[in-house]
Amino acid sequence: MTKISVSEALVRRQSVREYTQQSVPADLLLEILEIASKAPSGGNVQPWQVHALSGEVKNTLFEKTIQQAMNNPAGVDPDIPIYPAGLADPWRSRRTDCGEVMYAALDIKRDDKVARMQQGAKNLSFFDAPVGLIFTLDRRFCEAQMIDLGLYIQSVMLVADEKGLATCPQAVWSMWAGVVRDVLGLDYSEMVMVGMAMGYANPDAAVNQLNQPRVAVEEFATLHGF
Ligand SMILES: Cc1cc2nc3c(=O)[nH]c(=O)nc-3n(C[C@H](O)[C@H](O)[C@H](O)COP(=O)(O)O)c2cc1C
Repeated sequence: MTKISVSEALVRRQSVREYTQQSVPADLLLEILEIASKAPSGGNVQPWQVHALSGEVKNTLFEKTIQQAMNNPAGVDPDIPIYPAGLADPWRSRRTDCGEVMYAALDIKRDDKVARMQQGAKNLSFFDAPVGLIFTLDRRFCEAQMIDLGLYIQSVMLVADEKGLATCPQAVWSMWAGVVRDVLGLDYSEMVMVGMAMGYANPDAAVNQLNQPRVAVEEFATLHGF
């Protein structure tokens, strides 16, 4: 495998929403999760918990969520909101633009509500990736441990990339916390924070080449005292 720098790895990683059916061996998955646990955490508390789903249980979660999606568009017992109510600009526009970039790549028009919904529903099968990951935190934690979890999931994505695997982080799973807990038999004390699809990317899929833009560093970084 060609060695690349951390910067190159950060630039290369993209969210992947179409996968091949090549399976991911359990030992490779565990290796990725273990290396990623070198991510720092406040007080070295290491608050993350990971549930890895494949095969039958992943299918069951898909069936149970899709069954409820029509009547519960906002999910079932969501644990955390995906965005704050009334998301303001410039963030609102960035969010809209992000969707438009994806729908343009898929040639789904603005008024094609059904196709947009169907694309959204693919989240619930982890985009047919062979592995679905659910990341949870104990409900007693506070916001600072959510920062730790963010560092951990980015680490998982980068190590996965190094191993030739692709990923898509999925906030959508926190909306379906009630169903996730039911299917996996989790206690209410485990808060469903985020999910992630993982597998081998279909290199030809247009949806896997979105190259979502980033704002210029001057827009978010302020230098003080330089
Ligand atoms: C915490 C988090 C939650 C996300 N949730 C979803 C999701 O539910 N569904 C989805 O398709 N993409 C989701 N994404 C992917 C973002 O849309 C994506 O990271 C962003 O558009 C930038 O594109 P890139 O990852 O290809 O660089 C999520 C990303 C993050 C970091």
